[in-house]
Amino acid sequence: MKKIVCNTYEDVCRFAADIFAQQIKDKPDSILGLATGSTPIGLYNELIRRSEAGEIDFSAARTFNLDEYFPIKASHPQSYKSFMEKHLFSKVKFANTRIFNGEAANPHAECAAYDAEIEAAGGIDLQLLGIGVNGHIAFIEPDTSYPLGSYLVNLAEDTLEANSRFFTDGEEQPVTALSTGLSTIFRARHLIMLVSGTNKVEIIKKLFEGMIHTDIPASLLHLHPNVTVIMDKAANGE
Ligand code: F6R
Repeated sequence: MKKIVCNTYEDVCRFAADIFAQQIKDKPDSILGLATGSTPIGLYNELIRRSEAGEIDFSAARTFNLDEYFPIKASHPQSYKSFMEKHLFSKVKFANTRIFNGEAANPHAECAAYDAEIEAAGGIDLQLLGIGVNGHIAFIEPDTSYPLGSYLVNLAEDTLEANSRFFTDGEEQPVTALSTGLSTIFRARHLIMLVSGTNKVEIIKKLFEGMIHTDIPASLLHLHPNVTVIMDKAANGE
């Protein structure tokens, strides 16, 4: 696991954008794994800027998102579908974009279909990740055992609390979600995790103490041969 510490969040985003640009240059029809949350927004803005400037052409690339609340209507302002439309897909053209269907009649069948689509695409070339304050990646919440494939997850208390900032009063916050499983994440050829801000200091310290903790999903990534964690000084406790 490679650790890159940048001065600022803006530097984190530019560094990550360079990795996306190189990936698309090397393989225009890349399969990209995308994330939501606050951290990737700056990266998406940078990708939009470069795409509009003609510096990157995503038109042959396909994307799969890591997770989606369940159940949630696609049109709900806090669905990850809405998030991606707002922050990236309405401004950058991809060959195809795919997010778990938060309205699926059968969530388990949706998970199986999702995994099969990623498999048929040949797996993820470049996977973007964030990290939860509890060490989750995607919505793989701390546990003692983990399904290999995508699954319906009960969101952890700390995740619900951290994400409650997005839901306004009276808006019901889903307590379950569909998440990509460890198998898809581990088969991704390159993983980049973006981390920003002082609320991530504790989990970053724990992540880099040189141990695998079964109840910290992100620490399992030490077993992957190609992970780059890109953080700002604030997240590194500087
Ligand atoms: C969302 C996802 C989550 C977030 C994590 C950090 O698609 O995969 O694991 O990356 O919850 O979220 P932020 O960036 O809001 O701190």
